[in-house]
Amino acid sequence: MLVLGIETSCDETAAAVLDSDGRTLSSIVASQFFAHGKYGGVVPDLASREHLRAIVPVVRDALSEAGVSLAALSAIAVTAGPGLIGSLLVGITYAKALCLATGLPLIGVNHIEGHIHAVLFEQKGKIEFPALALVVSGGHTHLYKVPENLDYKLLGKTRDDAAGEAYDKVGKLLGFPYPGGPFIDRLSPFGNPDAVKFTLAKMKGNALDFSFSGLKTAALRWVESHDVAAEIDARRALVNPSLEELRAATPQPTLDMLASFQKTVIAELLRRAVSSAEQIDARSIVISGGVACNAGLRLAAPAAVHGIPVYFPSPGLSTDNAAMIAAAAFPKLLRREFSPLSLQADANLSIA
Ligand code: KG4
Ligand code: ZN
Repeated sequence: MLVLGIETSCDETAAAVLDSDGRTLSSIVASQFFAHGKYGGVVPDLASREHLRAIVPVVRDALSEAGVSLAALSAIAVTAGPGLIGSLLVGITYAKALCLATGLPLIGVNHIEGHIHAVLFEQKGKIEFPALALVVSGGHTHLYKVPENLDYKLLGKTRDDAAGEAYDKVGKLLGFPYPGGPFIDRLSPFGNPDAVKFTLAKMKGNALDFSFSGLKTAALRWVESHDVAAEIDARRALVNPSLEELRAATPQPTLDMLASFQKTVIAELLRRAVSSAEQIDARSIVISGGVACNAGLRLAAPAAVHGIPVYFPSPGLSTDNAAMIAAAAFPKLLRREFSPLSLQADANLSIA
């Protein structure tokens, strides 16, 4: 069986073909990085327009790289939400049109379920259930219980910013290119993570919820109370800088602040992932989403999780892609759980 996956929930237009043996026959991701970079964040209207431009060639490339025709597919899977409504609509409309033309069944997939399946798919049966999933990206910081029957249960989530969003806002504040997350991660090893004391968030109510707005405000206060205007301007003036150029343009106190910020985010993520894993007697921990690329998080996780096996997707499957959407569709295909052609985009679709 072959499934074509289509993903357009945010700022990547992606298509992939997977087979039922768990092989990725193709996975194409067209990033819109160039379109949004100069605005320091994703501009929803621009994103929809770029998806419209890219969707046909990206799907065509995915099919031709896989060496399959539409007629060889068993189903077409598409992200139904959560995400930007105009972006989701491009993928959903195109997937519906392909289904209408070919008679293939349509499978709507939740984007977050896709992120979880990026790991389940790569580990091929190695994940023991129940698993604790931490989905951490530019839009999500969510903890789920994942039982074997995939009847997810939400255990905690961010009450304000997502972790990736906090990274990107701090990056923007300091004049780093968009998105700031990967730059802060790669510069952190050059700073002293204990130099700036950021306090960990205390949560009233559900102790498994996250909050990053206090940390973001503390980073803003640090910027306001340090003489960093000239270095920020210097970094903003760089065009497509390399890591070395950015490092050269970043004095030690700022590197120390970035390392301290990163250490605090990682501590927050792992602290709650571990408490929730213990609460549900998890037999494995899955960490997925764009922030799962973070080198500091990958390094710190194994020691923090009290012996529970912890799994990350390979970097290409951490950030948004369509292979994870096709992977999440296979269990639905086996159950013949198809979506009607009236499937709607849902910006706030939840899995639990
Ligand atoms: O999953 P993703 O591609 O899109 C969303 O669904 O949001 O995640 C993108 C997010 C951005 O906020 C980006 O800054 C963050 O993931 N990110 C990172 C790293 N790589 C990507 N954050 C911290 N460290 C990284 N290495
Ligand atoms: Zn995502």
